[in-house]
Amino acid sequence: MQRLFSGIQPTGEPHIGNYLGAIRNWVALQDQYECLFCIVDYHAITIDYDPKEIGPRTLDLAATLLACGLDPKKCLLFVQSEVPEHTELAWILSTCTVVGDLARMHQFKEKTEGDRHLATLGLFAYPTLQTADIVLYKAEVVPVGEDQKQHLELARETVRRFNQRFGPIFPEPIELLSPAARVMGLDGEQKMSKSRGNHVALADSTDAVWAKLRPAKTDEARKRRADPGNPDRCNLFSYHGFFSPPEEVATINAGCRSAAIGCVDCKKALHANMERLLGPIRERLADYRARPDDVRAALRDGAARASTIARHTMEEVRQALGLR
Ligand code: TRP
Repeated sequence: MQRLFSGIQPTGEPHIGNYLGAIRNWVALQDQYECLFCIVDYHAITIDYDPKEIGPRTLDLAATLLACGLDPKKCLLFVQSEVPEHTELAWILSTCTVVGDLARMHQFKEKTEGDRHLATLGLFAYPTLQTADIVLYKAEVVPVGEDQKQHLELARETVRRFNQRFGPIFPEPIELLSPAARVMGLDGEQKMSKSRGNHVALADSTDAVWAKLRPAKTDEARKRRADPGNPDRCNLFSYHGFFSPPEEVATINAGCRSAAIGCVDCKKALHANMERLLGPIRERLADYRARPDDVRAALRDGAARASTIARHTMEEVRQALGLR
């Protein structure tokens, strides 16, 4: 099996956009690759954050990932800062990363609009830490969204430069673009995100989900129940695509166009289908939240197994650099 690495930041409350866009794929990939999944807290501290919150968030994200189906028997789940080799290797790789390349990163430019010279070195070097995450385990495959393609290109460039100087130690990692799933927020205007408050959290109760769906915008043409609508202009209809069986999606599509069903009917059907998927996740999450020591133990075990690989790689790297 090829080795696969991916990371997720412990920022914000996990929501259905995270689940459909990333976590669900990770669960499926566990059976196809030798997977390492990492909660990247050292990346999360490159922007303003609350030191009181990051610990509990990290633990809760781990509970969420387990509740969604990551299985420590099949994959390795751990927290980045528990394996210090990540930062050690990032320093070494920073000597193989060109400043001009880092300065071209879209994400860096977006996060530092206006006052770039006041940006921190940590934020600037973010992609080098990401490269270290991956190559520390010699991972070949990295499932990410579109927004990370540029970071992966830079990772390959860094690896090429490293291997040229010090010998062929690291494979060039390739991205595995996740299928589908750019989930719009409930406002229908922007991508779903906690910071915009347009999200359905994985931990939301069934009533809370309904309270968010009920007032959500649909096709503006449907002012009254009898007005026919266009599902292509309805944000909530796109959610049916994620949660409802294809036959039902077809029925709802037709029902909306002919006004055979109203928006409330459509939302009720969606709510029921969301509940079928989210209900069991929510229950398992509540269960993990009730036993945080078990989650901590799973993370500790993951870190121990990751460390074994990491230490081995670092021996090889220090040797190649002539530091031994
Ligand atoms: N930068 C990634 C993101 O924001 C998270 C990440 C950190 C990552 N290290 C990684 C993803 C290594 C893949 C591989 O989504």
